[in-house]
Amino acid sequence: MTRDEVLRRINYLRAELERHNFLYYVESKPVISDYDYDMLMKELETLEKEYPEFYDPSSPTQRIGNDINVEFQQKEHQYPMLSLGNTYNEGELRDFDARVRKILEEPFKYVCELKYDGVSISLTYENGQLKHAVTRGDGIKGDDVTANVKTIRSIPLKLKGTDFPDYFEIRGEIFMPHKVFELLNDEKRRNGEQPFANPRNATSGTVKLQNSSLVAKRKLDCFLYYLIGDKLPTDSHYQNLELARGWGFKIPQYIEYHDSIDEVFQFINYWDKERNNLSFDIDGIVIKVDSLAQQRKLGFTAKTPRWAISYKFQAERAETRLLSIDYQVGRTGAVTPVANLDPVQLAGTTVKRASLHNADQIGMLDVRLNDWVYVEKAGEIIPQIIGVNLERRPSDSFPVKFIESCPECGASLIRNEGEAAYYCPNDNGCPPQITGKIEHFISRAAMNINAGEATADLLFRAGLVHNASDLYRLTKDQILNLERFADKSAENLIKSIDDSKKVPFSRVLFALGIRYVGETVAKKLAAHFKTMEALMTAPFDELIEVEEIGERIAQSVMAYFADERNLAIIEELRQSGVQLSMQENAEDKLSEKLTGLNIIISGNFERLSREEIKRLIELHGGKNVSSISPKTNYLLAGEKIGPTKLEKAKKLNIPIISENEFFKMIE
Ligand code: IVH
Repeated sequence: MTRDEVLRRINYLRAELERHNFLYYVESKPVISDYDYDMLMKELETLEKEYPEFYDPSSPTQRIGNDINVEFQQKEHQYPMLSLGNTYNEGELRDFDARVRKILEEPFKYVCELKYDGVSISLTYENGQLKHAVTRGDGIKGDDVTANVKTIRSIPLKLKGTDFPDYFEIRGEIFMPHKVFELLNDEKRRNGEQPFANPRNATSGTVKLQNSSLVAKRKLDCFLYYLIGDKLPTDSHYQNLELARGWGFKIPQYIEYHDSIDEVFQFINYWDKERNNLSFDIDGIVIKVDSLAQQRKLGFTAKTPRWAISYKFQAERAETRLLSIDYQVGRTGAVTPVANLDPVQLAGTTVKRASLHNADQIGMLDVRLNDWVYVEKAGEIIPQIIGVNLERRPSDSFPVKFIESCPECGASLIRNEGEAAYYCPNDNGCPPQITGKIEHFISRAAMNINAGEATADLLFRAGLVHNASDLYRLTKDQILNLERFADKSAENLIKSIDDSKKVPFSRVLFALGIRYVGETVAKKLAAHFKTMEALMTAPFDELIEVEEIGERIAQSVMAYFADERNLAIIEELRQSGVQLSMQENAEDKLSEKLTGLNIIISGNFERLSREEIKRLIELHGGKNVSSISPKTNYLLAGEKIGPTKLEKAKKLNIPIISENEFFKMIE
């Protein structure tokens, strides 16, 4: 080939490769195979190496990156890179709208866009060629990451067409699609490396890699959303983006005009639901005034434009600073570490504290003071720390050392083999354990005494109640002396305590707060042993015979009854009249709704079997009878009811009820 022919071939290859790049990465419509693409690229690489005089910084070969390690140069932004004001609720957004309307005093249009969660980038184009790619940095100057950004295939190195300004900037967000992120983390895990916590971190870690050939492998992508320059083609933000699309930029299709704030809310609500179906992360919506003239009229505050704002979706996860760790002692003496956080918005509330569960969890996460941590709402209410952003870890940090003595009473903590929690062993002298036990005793599922946490605390601090049995010795006068109690409330408390003497044995057993004896275990134990005596004296072997009772529970039960102080409490409860044995039938009763009613059932039922229906009748205090008599109160009729029964019921004027009506009665 002559040099001319070589140059022509090189130009052809460059144009072809860029065309395929665009089809593949911007339009998602590839027309050649990866193999054919690679072949074209190889040929171009070889030619460029042989003829270095034809070097072109916009050549598609630049996208492969190179192995030269570089320190990034800082570069000043020609237009400062501001951030957006954030809003989190409808009211704040309506305030924004009112401000805009007040300043403009004329019709205007909003453009709604998604708020891409990645790393913002500013690209400068001169005569259609990518010149610089600079990160936000401090907004005034950022890192020149041009070599890295050139490896992002959806960013044009050379623009298409001719109608672009000689010089302009375009800004956007570099991001890592979910699929790429998953693959990258899989690989990291395989190599025993710490995976990235989220696609945004993976993106920012990648953009800052000092070796662009590594960046090329990570397959980042980039959406562009903001054109700036002195000579932009139109006065409309939206129109300018449309034109930029024609120059080869990846302008997201999720962009809409809206005339009113109510329409904007429809857009927001739609994407709040739909965002989970996107292949990349967004964290909100950006709302911009469309006209550039109007944007100028609105201007900027020190930090943010007045013509745009972001509406942030309620985050399910947030990143914040761990300020300190508190240790809380529960009723069983278990010590729970609780993180104090720099307050952060999470799913609609401000989160200041999060559970760290136990020493193992702290060790596993290796959370340290002053770390930036990820907080998630677990289930509904209690936020949890689920990870650490190691990139932001202060260099002088050190692992957390779990406390060794109880923060409440000073006793040395113990840790039983095979258990994650540390315990304060001072169960009868450690204040939160004492009040915790009382709170548990009076709780709804236990003795159902009508008094809250605060009351247990008050009673303890007034020296009136040290354990559950003390409750039954309280007098109205003693209670009246307490803060916040008046005649009526004192009377109610006394009555409620008195009523608790009718609470069945299984719940009393649960109320004692024996470790590992929850509601279900208490029921099983009560049903098996029937009386407190039998349970107290039961040998280990008999305990573990009971359904669902294993060695751990059996040991805990035996340990509880081996303690003299517990025996004394039980004795006092007995003398106060608390139920310490199973009452016939009283045990599992669900309600008294059918008490005194004789019910006969006939036919087949939809929701439950006949046996189950019979049991339900008894559990609600009713009696299941087998033949109809004048004393029968109801005939509960299912499908295919026997004709003789039906006739007899009609004759005796006995009301016939359906399965549904029956369930309504016991609801
Ligand atoms: S416009 C002057 N549009 O959100 C306003 N920003 O806090 C220029 N972002 O730093 C930004 N999606 O990184 C704009 N559709 C979008 C965006 C967007 C994400 C990011 C951007 C910016 C931050 C604002």
